[in-house]
Amino acid sequence: MRMLFVSAPALALSLVTLPGVLAQLALPDSPYEPPDPSAGTQPSNGTAPNPQWSTLLGNLLYFYDEQRSGKLPSNERVSWRNDSALDDGSDVGLDLSGGYYDAGDYVKYTFPLSYTLMSICWGALDSGRAYDLANQTAYLDDMLRWGLDWLVKAHPSPNTLFVQVGDGNLDNAYWGGDRSIPGPRTSYQINNTSPGTDAAAQASAAFAACSSLYSNRTLASSSTSGLANTTYASTLQNHARQLYEFATNASGGMQTYQTAVPQSADAYASSGYFDELAIAALFLALAETNPNATSYYADAVKWYYSGNLGQQLQAGDETVFNWDSKTPGIAVLAAQIASAYPDVVSGSNATLQVWQAAVEGYFDAITNGTGRSHLTDGGLLLFPGDSDEASLNPALNVAMLMIRYASANLTTSHDANDRYTTFAQNQLDYVLGKNPMSVPYVVGTHPNSPANPHSALATGYAPPNGSLSAPDDLDTVPAKEAYVLYGGVVGGPDANDRFWDLRSDWVENEVALDYTAPLLTLAAQALVRVAGDPYYTQVKAGAYDAVRPSGFPCDAAIQTGCKHSGLSTGGKIAVGVVVSVVGLIVIGLGAYWVWRTRRNSRY
Ligand SMILES: *[C@@H]1O[C@H](CO)[C@@H](O)[C@H](O)[C@H]1NC(C)=O
Ligand SMILES: *[C@@H]1O[C@H](CO)[C@@H](O)[C@H](O)[C@H]1NC(C)=O
Ligand SMILES: *[C@@H]1O[C@H](CO)[C@@H](O)[C@H](O)[C@H]1NC(C)=O
Ligand SMILES: *[C@@H]1O[C@H](CO)[C@@H](O)[C@H](O)[C@H]1NC(C)=O
Ligand SMILES: *[C@@H]1O[C@H](CO)[C@@H](O)[C@H](O)[C@H]1NC(C)=O
Ligand SMILES: *[C@@H]1O[C@H](CO)[C@@H](O)[C@H](O)[C@H]1NC(C)=O
Ligand SMILES: *[C@@H]1O[C@H](CO)[C@@H](O)[C@H](O)[C@H]1NC(C)=O
Ligand SMILES: *[C@@H]1O[C@H](CO)[C@@H](O)[C@H](O)[C@H]1NC(C)=O
Ligand SMILES: *[C@@H]1O[C@H](CO)[C@@H](O)[C@H](O)[C@H]1NC(C)=O
Ligand SMILES: *[C@@H]1O[C@H](CO)[C@@H](O)[C@H](O)[C@H]1NC(C)=O
Ligand SMILES: *[C@@H]1O[C@H](CO)[C@@H](O)[C@H](O)[C@H]1NC(C)=O
Ligand SMILES: *[C@@H]1O[C@H](CO)[C@@H](O)[C@H](O)[C@H]1NC(C)=O
Repeated sequence: MRMLFVSAPALALSLVTLPGVLAQLALPDSPYEPPDPSAGTQPSNGTAPNPQWSTLLGNLLYFYDEQRSGKLPSNERVSWRNDSALDDGSDVGLDLSGGYYDAGDYVKYTFPLSYTLMSICWGALDSGRAYDLANQTAYLDDMLRWGLDWLVKAHPSPNTLFVQVGDGNLDNAYWGGDRSIPGPRTSYQINNTSPGTDAAAQASAAFAACSSLYSNRTLASSSTSGLANTTYASTLQNHARQLYEFATNASGGMQTYQTAVPQSADAYASSGYFDELAIAALFLALAETNPNATSYYADAVKWYYSGNLGQQLQAGDETVFNWDSKTPGIAVLAAQIASAYPDVVSGSNATLQVWQAAVEGYFDAITNGTGRSHLTDGGLLLFPGDSDEASLNPALNVAMLMIRYASANLTTSHDANDRYTTFAQNQLDYVLGKNPMSVPYVVGTHPNSPANPHSALATGYAPPNGSLSAPDDLDTVPAKEAYVLYGGVVGGPDANDRFWDLRSDWVENEVALDYTAPLLTLAAQALVRVAGDPYYTQVKAGAYDAVRPSGFPCDAAIQTGCKHSGLSTGGKIAVGVVVSVVGLIVIGLGAYWVWRTRRNSRY
């Protein structure tokens, strides 16, 4: 048992009535710590529950401990993390300390955080038993509460939600540790007159999904046993209801949240709100009982049709599932609800069969290669545009949805079930080392794992006193990262399966809350379906060194590897030198900001 969050005076400043500051489940006396990466080379020979998947699950949850902001508890597992950003919210007279840093820097963004929490709670709703098997349920509880308790603070009144704390521009110029994060750290809100339909609805979806988890609702036969807490579930449910009403009924109407808070557009501009409205209504339908559940379900169907979301699942248009785009998840979740709670769906024309057709049309376009996505030569699923940066994320999310749908026996044919499961397994294998680089793309799980995640926290660079500066060369200063960022899933390789493992290459090497989330659920699913070892137990340590590409990448972070036609070799070297020296400073940090504007995808 432990106190979360800061001092009593800071709490008193807050308008929030905190639901309770004690985590429910006691953490084990001897805490789980990630083993040395060499452990990833040991096949487990059929032991159950699979120790390799259990370790991976533990490491992926540990990543969220590493990303914590605020006053750390006395039993914090990550020895190299310190209290940080304790004054967040002081500019608006609130305590907004806590929560999670979003990615390789120190900004807190509510939109992708809410998406991440929704995704993890959804995974625990249908594969929760895995956390019990791996002895990780207390850490799951701890991870979720660290995010949800902050989200409660960020929602201090029904029609106010803080969507960002910290400033992207300032923050991206800083490359130091957690003890001297530069300020001022501004708190940005949406409210009744300046609403943000998508951000409010996404936060509602997170609260509703997690409320269902804490109220022991189930979507499959493998829910976790230990999390049920009706007090906490009902607190979360109230926030979910209020935020849904805020999203739908704000006096300022409906609009994307970056219309109200343009500062968030730099990093996470949302492309629409119908998908968030629909998924929020669906998770509310799951969290509520009738008659409310039926009414929320009807709302979800209404948003689905009025947003013409079905079109986004058609071959040729098939969209991704990510922080911005929820549509593939909507169809899968609706099928799960229609199957598990027929009473909620009866009376609607959106039947199980309607969702099955939508889901399978989408999955078939992907597995049959008849849509806009395709496989790299090495076998990674790419969606042009969406996969240009953080290439692994769309593939992981598709794999997660396919295994969820197939494991719930929702497929209309055995053939489809096999096809989706095999396709998903191939993507999972690729991410875990069955790729031309022989790299498992999770930090700290195998000797070949990325050694240079783009993370200011892990790097250990100490800027000169009071300085915002970054080192001249992000890749070599310091020579080795100070800390192993266990469980961080990096962006991933380029479209030719090449991975350079360069710290400055945020396209390939950055970590983020939402990059790790789908793999956490895939690991949970693997434990529940008793899959064989993760692929990396078969990957030879050192194999990456033999195939590591020479030269430089050509992407939005680093242009050194781009072709410069008409230049002599000397000219190319000169360009290369200039670009790598100037470029790694200017591009690596300046374009980081540009990238953030481009990170948003099609929907
Ligand atoms: C349930 O959660 C509430 C709110 O966080 C907490 O105060 C309470 O101790 C928990 N109940 C149990 C039985 O752990
Ligand atoms: C599994 O078997 C291999 C080969 O016999 C052995 O090297 C390895 O140590 C075994 N793993 C465990 C966890 O016992
Ligand atoms: C979980 O804990 C039990 C009891 O301490 C232990 O026997 C088991 O090996 C643990 N499982 C894992 C995957 O760590
Ligand atoms: C936390 O503080 C210690 C010194 O007290 C320092 O060595 C370490 O680098 C800090 N961690 C980060 C992430 O900056
Ligand atoms: C409402 O939000 C807008 C946009 O963030 C902000 O400019 C305004 O000050 C807020 N209104 C109140 C009353 O805080
Ligand atoms: C939650 O549900 C699971 C299975 O559905 C059951 O085993 C468990 O006892 C339930 N827990 C509580 C606290 O109701
Ligand atoms: C929004 O307002 C309408 C009209 O007042 C009301 O019928 C509806 O229930 C409200 N929606 C929510 C989610 O509260
Ligand atoms: C339905 O929702 C309303 C308003 O959110 C709530 O007051 C009521 O208790 C709910 N009914 C049920 C049966 O949960
Ligand atoms: C269900 O009803 C809605 C609204 O009336 C309509 O737009 C939609 O096409 C219908 N769907 C099906 C599958 O009939
Ligand atoms: C995809 O391929 C399977 C197996 O060949 C086939 O049954 C299915 O109809 C195809 N679907 C589409 C949309 O092409
Ligand atoms: C799906 O079907 C398989 C085989 O019939 C069965 O073992 C499994 O329990 C089913 N899963 C669910 C979630 O119903
Ligand atoms: C940083 O500034 C403090 C206070 O001004 C000073 O004591 C310390 O020596 C400085 N450290 C470095 C590395 O310059």
